[in-house]
Amino acid sequence: MTSSHKPSTDGVCIEEVQTVFPARNTTDEMYLAFTSSLQRIRDADNGVLLLATCSDSSSLHPEVLKRFEENIPLELPTLPHRLALLHYLTSSSHPTPLNLHPIAERSQAFRLADLAELCDSALRHAFSRQGDGYGSSVTLVQEDFDAAFGAVEIKASEGGRYEGAKVEVVRWADVGGHAKAKTLLKESVVWSFKNIDAFKRLGIAPSKGVLLHGPPGTGKTLLAKAVATESGANFMPISIPELIKGEVGESEKAITRTFTLARRTSPTIIFIDELEALFSRHENMGDAGKKLFSMLVVEIDALEAGSGVVLLCATNYPGLVEKALLRPGRIDRLISIPPPTHRDRLSILQTLTKRLTLAPDVDLAVLARRMKGATGADLKEVVRRASLAAIAREGFQNKPVVQMADFQAKEVRAYGGGGVAS
Ligand SMILES: Nc1ncnc2c1ncn2[C@@H]1O[C@H](COP(=O)(O)OP(=O)(O)O)[C@@H](O)[C@H]1O
Ligand SMILES: [Mg+2]
Repeated sequence: MTSSHKPSTDGVCIEEVQTVFPARNTTDEMYLAFTSSLQRIRDADNGVLLLATCSDSSSLHPEVLKRFEENIPLELPTLPHRLALLHYLTSSSHPTPLNLHPIAERSQAFRLADLAELCDSALRHAFSRQGDGYGSSVTLVQEDFDAAFGAVEIKASEGGRYEGAKVEVVRWADVGGHAKAKTLLKESVVWSFKNIDAFKRLGIAPSKGVLLHGPPGTGKTLLAKAVATESGANFMPISIPELIKGEVGESEKAITRTFTLARRTSPTIIFIDELEALFSRHENMGDAGKKLFSMLVVEIDALEAGSGVVLLCATNYPGLVEKALLRPGRIDRLISIPPPTHRDRLSILQTLTKRLTLAPDVDLAVLARRMKGATGADLKEVVRRASLAAIAREGFQNKPVVQMADFQAKEVRAYGGGGVAS
């Protein structure tokens, strides 16, 4: 649209151009008026740049879209972009020892506007905390961002490009045990993002699909969240209830949309939890399920290995998952998440009690031994109940100290078939 040989001196910007020229209902007259104005701009050859913004180019009249020489998709910023943007957006505040990296991680799925609002909100909080007016300079601290997240996060996910994309920050260290699974996940997912070029050089194709399987409560969903955090990739959970509640044909579109967006914003992890719920064996699949299944297969097959998009799935019942999905080239990396061993249980208990104050008499190894057969979710419940017992004893005033007796309270013992009883 611009005449390239003279420097642009002027510009015209049409915001939300699809509202003027919608894909449907753009009349011939409107279209002709547009093209003739455009021609006039061109003929004048005076370096005027026509710029338009559009929230979704598929809602713009295709002929109008074609008239623009450049079509620049602005996608969600990835982790490094978010970090750079946060540095830029907070540059007006005093240099602080505040590490922006965790904030960049926490702002998964934030758009630029959300990040700007986050920083504004943090700055406002900092000013009111300092209490000496807006004229002075300000120093941002963690507390300012914590307050800002409370205000902005919800909005970002509502207006965001895909729902449910906000995941809590889970670190490898928050997942107890599962040493082998963690290593396999690092190899199959994290490395494939961090070393895309090396993989290409060696001619090795990393897996496109990875399946975590194991009994309920062993921490599969938790591990997926840790992968999301630790890989620094975008994380797009496909929610099955969301998928099937829409109109006929909408759920297939949702799958395509997710994969298209994932390719554009790579590195990206697409996550399908409870895979068997929708993609169970063919004979058990309904018509809607079959259609969705074919769409998913088309999308997986169209993915290039090493493209920076990985499909991560989890299931409690791998035997129920349609075998065609688990073929080589599709979801071909199966990682078993077994019930925890004694050592795993100890490590899980250590992880789960990290933030509690434990009395010296608490012996986690003894608890781990007693709770044979308990999963991570069971252990979590036991720790929760023990903390409640401590609060019941000591009240909310001070940080309650959890004692060994709290792990043996009646309510705790009742949980998990009396595994905690001595
Ligand atoms: N290995 C683990 N380490 C720490 N917490 C765990 C672990 N496994 C399970 N949990 C706790 O139990 C909860 C439920 O686990 P989840 O990941 O939903 O299990 P799954 O998806 O395998 O059914 C988690 O949110 C976490 O708090
Ligand atoms: Mg789960």
